[in-house]
Amino acid sequence: VTTVWLDGSLCDEKAVCLSPFDHGLLTGDGIFETVRVTQGVPFACRRHYGRLTHSAAGLGLTPPGADALRAAVDAVLSANGISEGRVRITVTGGPSPLGSERGTSPPTVLIAATPPAPRAEAIAVAVAPWPRNERGALAGFKTISYGENVRALAYARAHGAGEAIFANTVGNLCEGTGTNTFLVQDGILLTPPEAAGCLLGVTRGLVLEVAAEIGVEAREVDVAVGALREADEAFVTSTTRRLQPISAVDGQALPSVPGPVTQRLTDAFLALEARTLDP
Ligand SMILES: Cc1ncc(COP(=O)(O)O)c(C=O)c1O
Repeated sequence: VTTVWLDGSLCDEKAVCLSPFDHGLLTGDGIFETVRVTQGVPFACRRHYGRLTHSAAGLGLTPPGADALRAAVDAVLSANGISEGRVRITVTGGPSPLGSERGTSPPTVLIAATPPAPRAEAIAVAVAPWPRNERGALAGFKTISYGENVRALAYARAHGAGEAIFANTVGNLCEGTGTNTFLVQDGILLTPPEAAGCLLGVTRGLVLEVAAEIGVEAREVDVAVGALREADEAFVTSTTRRLQPISAVDGQALPSVPGPVTQRLTDAFLALEARTLDP
């Protein structure tokens, strides 16, 4: 039985008393963070908290303070005996009237952790047939409004792939359903800028920093989504995947999996993690 944290205390997941009027449940009004747990420690905790507060400000939600949240996360990890895995912090608009207007109740805060899921060495991707709206009201915030990701991931699976990649409304590469995207062309690392509509992933930021550290030239630039198919190498990043090489795009194999630049960045990322768990 899993123990979770709900609104200030630990409780058995089966005994959770979440309002049927919760605005997160009814409208997707909420934000979240997924943090990887390594050696019992939530990795890159400060960066995740910074993004949580950024998303909270965007949606007009008040998250718990950093120290209170960390204590709650530690309590959940300890109650479930989890030293490797992931912990998810979700903050929603709380109980509200039925409809788009948020109520006056305090936000709902829910924390849950699970052990790690097995990950493939590489992943095939499919380009989603729907765009990411880089000008949308939620662009750049990590919200729980994930219906579009759910649908796109199901599309990818139906097409023999493990992740869907979105172009934005002007046809440029944006991101995956739960990942950022990088490609390597002529030895240069390319990834879409924030203006392309992608979430500024914690892992994305760290990869750009380790690239600078080991002398890999990196550019945050717009590229047409089709460039992914022509890349010398490509990979996705996320908290739980770190760097995961892309093996094929829409059924077309990439030439080098993992490519040499991807391998160097992976090694540098793991070395960073060995130096500090809160980079
Ligand atoms: C839409 C989206 N983009 C990118 C990412 C990668 O972000 P991070 O490296 O912070 O996990 C995620 C992670 O869940 C995501 O949901």
